[in-house]
Amino acid sequence: MKTILITGGAGFIGSHVTKRFVKKYPDYKIVNLDKLTYAGNLANLTDIEKNENYEFVRGDIVDVDFVQELFNKYRFDGVIHLAAESHVDRSILNPMDFIMTNIVGTVNLLNAAKIIWKDNPENKIFYHISTDEVYGSLGKEGFFTEETAYDPRSPYSASKASSDHIVRAYFHTYKIPVVISNCSNNYGANQFPEKLIPLCINNIKNNKPLPVYGKGENVRDWLWVEDHAAAIELIFHKGKVGETYNIGGNNEWKNIDLVLLLCKIMNKKLGRKEGESEKLITYVTDRAGHDLRYAIDSSKLQKNLGWKPSLQFEEGLEKTVDWYLENETWLINVTSGAYQKYYENLYDKR
Ligand code: NAD
Ligand code: TYD
Repeated sequence: MKTILITGGAGFIGSHVTKRFVKKYPDYKIVNLDKLTYAGNLANLTDIEKNENYEFVRGDIVDVDFVQELFNKYRFDGVIHLAAESHVDRSILNPMDFIMTNIVGTVNLLNAAKIIWKDNPENKIFYHISTDEVYGSLGKEGFFTEETAYDPRSPYSASKASSDHIVRAYFHTYKIPVVISNCSNNYGANQFPEKLIPLCINNIKNNKPLPVYGKGENVRDWLWVEDHAAAIELIFHKGKVGETYNIGGNNEWKNIDLVLLLCKIMNKKLGRKEGESEKLITYVTDRAGHDLRYAIDSSKLQKNLGWKPSLQFEEGLEKTVDWYLENETWLINVTSGAYQKYYENLYDKR
């Protein structure tokens, strides 16, 4: 029996990874450590909350003593580290939360793993989940490969880049067995509606403006969250220690084209006339330092480990819309008063 720590398991990607591991590996004990910030929601995990091989622990990865005690108690065989502050716009308003959780929190976990794995690092793995945003911004051509030089440009991406460097430093300096993956933008069920896709679904449903930053010409490479979770499962088991794997959907969309596609799908689902939701599109002041384009070359993961994305974007987006429409209570609960206040603050400060 292996004991695996998943951090950030109540968040968007973390909850899909946690459910996958708990259901597929009854011989693993899965401990989900999450602080339950605004982005963490135990309602994402109701499917598995009663499973015998699952345990939830509420706690903060920034709390050094708490983290060490947890590692001493459970003697984890593996760590899948997803806990993070993850929203670029929030990082522009308040970088310090990102520095603390994404950098200091990661160092605390590495230090705790270093202590318990000191005498027996064999068959242990510290898997750090990162983002393609560490590579910076592409022009119209080219892709990010594992060799692309880091060039982060937002407090969020700089904090993730910093944590990636520290994870690699612990591999080289202390021989901690690590693996890293850098993934493109995810979409799917359970994503907090501050990110582009669920925000637009929620606003279209409620006939509210769809804020498109700048001219809507920035490009993102979208991957279905279950395909990311499948890649994480594969890399956790088969990834080579010390290596990095890029994960991406080979699925580039200009923001405005994506919002138009969402409007089209939602018109159909809500029985609205063609062009009706599109009237909600509102161009707003651009994000400061807005990266123009992300696009991932995932050929290393495809060739070496045999992963490939399973869903076409149009199909995945339709499934996602269906999930949000069928889970109205979830959506209402996460878009409570505190969330509205955050939004007022964001637009006041621009
Ligand atoms: P999320 O914001 O939905 O969830 C983050 C989770 O971490 C939440 O449950 C939150 O409560 C928890 N958390 C935050 N601070 C914590 C702390 N100090 N201690 C313990 N728990 C804490 O994020 P997500 O979108 O699911 O992203 C998960 C990971 O994947 C992050 O590391 C992110 O950088 C990375 N990533 C995300 C994307 C994406 O498109 N969402 C793409 C590539 C990589
Ligand atoms: P987001 O979902 O925040 O992910 P990231 O910034 O990590 O890529 O944003 C995706 C793209 O959509 C990004 O180019 C910013 C843009 N965007 C908007 O135009 N309007 C919005 O309300 C949001 C949240 C994002």
